[in-house]
Parts: sequence; structure tokens; C-alpha cells
Amino acid sequence: MSEQPRDSSAPTLFTWEFATDPYPAYAWLREHAPVHRTTLPSGVDAWLVTRYADARKALADPRLSKNPQRHSAAAHAKGKVGIPGEQRADLMTHLLNIDPPDHTRLRRLVSTAFTPRRVAAFAPRVRTLTDQLIDAFEERGEADLIHEFAFPLPIYAICDLLGVPREDQDDFRDWAGAMIRHGGGPRGGVARAVKRIRAYLGELIHRKRLEPARRREEEDGEDLISGLIRASDHGEHLTENEAAAMAFILLFAGFETTVNLIGNGVYALLRHPEQRAVMQRALEEGDERLLAAGVEELLRYDGPVEIATWRFATEPLTLAGQRIAEGEPVLVVLAAADRDPERFAEPDVLDLTRRDNQHLGYGHGIHYCLGAPLARLEAQTAIATALRRLPGLRLAAEPEELRWRGGLIMRGLRTLPVTWKSADR
Ligand code: HEM
Repeated sequence: MSEQPRDSSAPTLFTWEFATDPYPAYAWLREHAPVHRTTLPSGVDAWLVTRYADARKALADPRLSKNPQRHSAAAHAKGKVGIPGEQRADLMTHLLNIDPPDHTRLRRLVSTAFTPRRVAAFAPRVRTLTDQLIDAFEERGEADLIHEFAFPLPIYAICDLLGVPREDQDDFRDWAGAMIRHGGGPRGGVARAVKRIRAYLGELIHRKRLEPARRREEEDGEDLISGLIRASDHGEHLTENEAAAMAFILLFAGFETTVNLIGNGVYALLRHPEQRAVMQRALEEGDERLLAAGVEELLRYDGPVEIATWRFATEPLTLAGQRIAEGEPVLVVLAAADRDPERFAEPDVLDLTRRDNQHLGYGHGIHYCLGAPLARLEAQTAIATALRRLPGLRLAAEPEELRWRGGLIMRGLRTLPVTWKSADR
């Protein structure tokens, strides 16, 4: 790795204390070492970019490739630099691992199937799912909002959207659970879960290819996998592996992120009663604009993607005065950029009415989150419904008792025990 002078006052990163509240360490890095070399818990060396202006530039810099093969230590770091499934060649060709022109072609293809119209038409289904999940525990007066609410909602939503039959969705829920319970490592439960998902998706794609399109549309409305198959039927080239990798990345990118936006968002509201009151008033008055703006602020304040996915320098380059050698990994710390006082007034304050809130929570540039409209729909519906239907919602544990997941990319709570006034209490 390129040299960087050592500073003995630098904070220790990636400990449990850091996972609980990484923001003071990020403030130090922004100020003293805005492009900082570190050794990750996996043993891989990488550069962390923490200032907003640098982060935005890096996210859109074509000299930073998403292709893990460009890593100077690619062979040594196999399975350590990506998301679960990375080590499987047949799931490699997904949007977060490729550069133009392949990225342009695949993104255009999926964009024809994953349209804002399709997402908007999905709103009633998301409302029904949200209500059904709350129906299951409302009377009890207490729940773990992660396991019983934030976790299943995006799984069922993405399964519906992809066209996974309802009777298979609980299997998906189990596999997806295994993927996050075991963290991002390449072994054990994760590898098994990824293998099952891959086999299932292969079968599903095969089955849908054989069904006449007319029948598919009549029976379920056109789902995303069918849309992808149709796009490839119309002359665009999408291999079976590419279709499976696309379905997998939609599942992976659209699942834990949304779980954590709902979890971190509700948690932030419960810890800021005056902001929660602002939200509650907006809901009573039917102020959809404030609901939407409030969820964006929750994303800026404590978003689910702490660090954007891996990037690799394709040539020697200088970032904020720091030399980075060809092949070195660069990690853009979205959570640090979104608290940069050079960009946001009082960045450590949660303010649901904040204006000028161009956060980087969904990324920036050609890899900007494809699922942002769906994520917004799910998070706004979930947070609004929880506040409306669970009166007096409050934490059922001390904040110090809560545990945060220790992964590199995602930031989220393991559990969120809450209580409220139920009818029989
Ligand atoms: C709160 C929820 C979500 C957040 C915060 C989020 C955040 C992000 C971020 C930061 C990126 C860019 C990563 C990078 O450049 O390294 C990204 C990309 C992506 N997201 Fe999301 N995401 C969310 C939900 C979803 C959902 C629901 C889906 C789909 C069902 C989705 C699909 C994708 C895909 C496919 C990409 C890759 C796009 C590309 O490389 O062209 N995301 N997301």
C-alpha cells in the first residue's frame, strides 16, 4: 500500500464500541486524515474516504473500478472484498461488481423491468404486508421490531416483486436470515444459504422462461424476473447467470439495507421524542411531504449503508492530497460524509424538517441505488404504520443494552425490543 504517516491519536476502528457509535471516530478522520489507510478486520488494507466533497467525487470517479479483479491483492483477498456470493463465479456479474460498458448494458436492462411505475403500483401490497405483520403482534404490546417487522417486510416485498411464489417465500426468509446472521464471511451458513438461493433462482428462471408470457401476465401481472426474461427475449442479451446474478443482487441490496433503514429510523425517533412528535403530527395532518423528508433525514443521520461497496484504483491517483497506488481498495464512508459540517449545518442533530439534504445514503454516480424508490416506499410505509398503530411506542431496553451488527458495509441493530399500549393492557 502507499505510505501514510502514522498518528498515535488516531481512533481505533472496527471494535464493538466503534460499532455502537462510529461517529466520533469519523469526525476525527474527517478532520485529521480524510483519506486514511487502515487494515480491516479481515486483514485487507484499504483507504477510507470520509469528507463529503471527496466522497461524492470518489463515488463518480471512473478511475475507481468496481471490479474485484482490479484489486492488487485479488488472489490473496478472495472472498474478503465483496458481498456474500462474491466467491461464486456464477453470481459475480452483478451491478456492484462491474464497470461500463457491461454495467451500462445490465443497468439499462434491469431499469426497463424495475420502473418507478412498477414500484408505485406495488404500494397497496406494501401496505397490506405492513399491516399483516403488525396484526400478528399488536395485541401483545411488545415485540422485537427487527425480527418481527423490519426483517420480514423487505424479504416478502422483494420476493413478490421478483415473482417468487408465495409458498416459497418462507424458504427465502430463512436463507436471507442465514446470510445476515452469519455476517459477510465466505464460509459456513452464508455460503450454504447463497448456494440454495442460487439453485432456487436458476430453477425459477428456467420455469418462467418456459411459461408463455401471456399466462404469466394474466396470472400474476408481470414480475421482475419475467420482465428481465422478456427484455432478453427482445434481442438484448442476458445470460442465465446474469439473470440469476441480477435477481441475487436485487435480493441482497434490497434486503438488509431496508431492514436497517426501518430499524435505525425507528430507533432514532424513539431517542428523539421532539422529532418523533414532529413526525406524529405530520402523520395526523396527512403531511406526506414531511413523512418523505423525515425518512431522508433518518437516512442521512444514521443510514443503513455505513460504507459504500468496494472500489479499486485502476491507475495511480491522488485523492485529497493522498497518493493511492494502482489496485489499492478505496472505501467511501457514507456515514462520515453525511455528517460532514462542511456540507450540513449541525450535522449531528436529527432534524426531520432539514432542507438542502442531499445526503449520500443511496450513493452517487452510475451505481446510485437502483432500488431507492422501493426503499422509500417501504420505509415510509413501515415507519408511518408503526407510529400510527402502536400508540405510546417506546424502547423496552436501555440504549446501552442494544447491540449493533459488526459488519463493514451495513450499519444496523441486532434487535430492537419495544413496547406500547395494547388494547388489553
Ligand atoms: C434503505 C434502503 C437502501 C439503501 C440505503 C441503499 C443504498 C445503496 C447504495 C449506497 C448503493 C451504492 C453502492 C455503491 O456505490 O457502492 C446502492 C446500490 C444499489 N441498490 Fe440500494 N439501497 C437500499 C435499498 C435497495 C433496494 C430496496 C433495492 C432493490 C430491490 C436496491 C438495489 C440496489 C442495486 C441493484 C444497487 C446497485 C446499482 C448499480 O451498481 O448500478 N437497494 N444502494
